[in-house]
Amino acid sequence: MAGSIAVPHKTSLPEGIRVGTVMRIQGVVPEKAGRFHVNLLCSEEQEADAALHFNPRMDLSEVVFNSKERGAWGREERGPGLPFQRGKPFEVLLITTEEGFKTVVGDTEYHHFRHRMPPGSVRQLEVGGDVQLGSVRVF
Ligand code: GAL
Repeated sequence: MAGSIAVPHKTSLPEGIRVGTVMRIQGVVPEKAGRFHVNLLCSEEQEADAALHFNPRMDLSEVVFNSKERGAWGREERGPGLPFQRGKPFEVLLITTEEGFKTVVGDTEYHHFRHRMPPGSVRQLEVGGDVQLGSVRVF
């Protein structure tokens, strides 16, 4: 992959997101990666609520999904297995549906995280942690 984008990387979403909004994150998992995250945040402030925290954990071979409201994490959800490998490229799609965020990793639908707060309240997409970030696109 040519170059990489510095992390944490923040994309403003001034008009929020709606059903049909697709966010695509491409990159490479570094050889010594522990964890990285994709957050859908409800403001640009420090302690923003998160409508979605998507957190591949290579250190524990799991992917955790959660939300954060008023500084408190909600109930964790996990997808099946770990569809990321250290040293390998990846592509994640976060597809906004009526019900939630459908996550697709590579060619496989991975986990559907049901909305806990309205997608219209999302204002920022943030990617951070142990990741070589190639591109972030919002369609
Ligand atoms: C915590 C972790 C946070 C976040 C949260 C999600 O254990 O420290 O970074 O991933 O879980 O529930």
